[in-house]
Amino acid sequence: MRKKIIAGNWKMNKSLEEGMGLVSEISNMLKDEYKGSAQALIIPPFIHLNAISKLIADNPKLGLGAQNCSNHKSGAYTGEVSVDMLKSCGCSYVIIGHSERREYFNEHNAWLAQKVDAALAANLSPIYCCGETLTEREENKHFEVLEKQISEGLFHLDKIQIQQVVIAYEPVWAIGTGKTASTAQAQEIHAFIRSLLANKYSPEIAQEITIQYGGSVKPENAAELFAAADIDGALVGGAALQSRSFVEIVKAMA
Ligand code: 13P
Repeated sequence: MRKKIIAGNWKMNKSLEEGMGLVSEISNMLKDEYKGSAQALIIPPFIHLNAISKLIADNPKLGLGAQNCSNHKSGAYTGEVSVDMLKSCGCSYVIIGHSERREYFNEHNAWLAQKVDAALAANLSPIYCCGETLTEREENKHFEVLEKQISEGLFHLDKIQIQQVVIAYEPVWAIGTGKTASTAQAQEIHAFIRSLLANKYSPEIAQEITIQYGGSVKPENAAELFAAADIDGALVGGAALQSRSFVEIVKAMA
């Protein structure tokens, strides 16, 4: 059975003190209130990872991820953070190819494929992001865009490696806009992504891969999204910055 994962991507928000407070609240609430099977991930800025890792060590419902990584193993790359460093700070996951990194930092598929390889070599699970812009959707190019992002970023992996990857479908037009994809729109794309995986690998392998939805996920829309057959959780931005809303989204996953 594929894993259900709700991940809170804090982006560039929260001081260390604020972040520690937020994680303590989330951890206490999940311990008391959540009996479901989903894994909740905290994905804070790099600089908070080590401290948060210690804070969540005794809570099996919480895991840790990073927002980005270098494609290089080590060396003279000022300002970069390697996968081995992330691992040594307690991470199990790393987001690769978030649309903000694709757009503002020119990260392209070939480079992201290298990051995926680096993550897997360090035994970190990549959360590989894909998603179309509003213009691409309006021009009916979204299937083509997604196929390119997925095939160029992931399809060099073998049948074992691909099963370590989590895919996050985040339509760019739904990120931070309050405009969520409808459950039908999201399910259509998730099923399409799963069909790409089935064709490339096998239907059985495709069934094992977690595909998250991201883009204005809130307590009000989470349960409906999670009820869809191919939606296995969420990558949450804004609503992950408050304990109550993040925990409500986790609790929406049975
Ligand atoms: P919002 O939930 O704020 O739309 O952000 C989604 C996102 O980009 C998560 O990675």
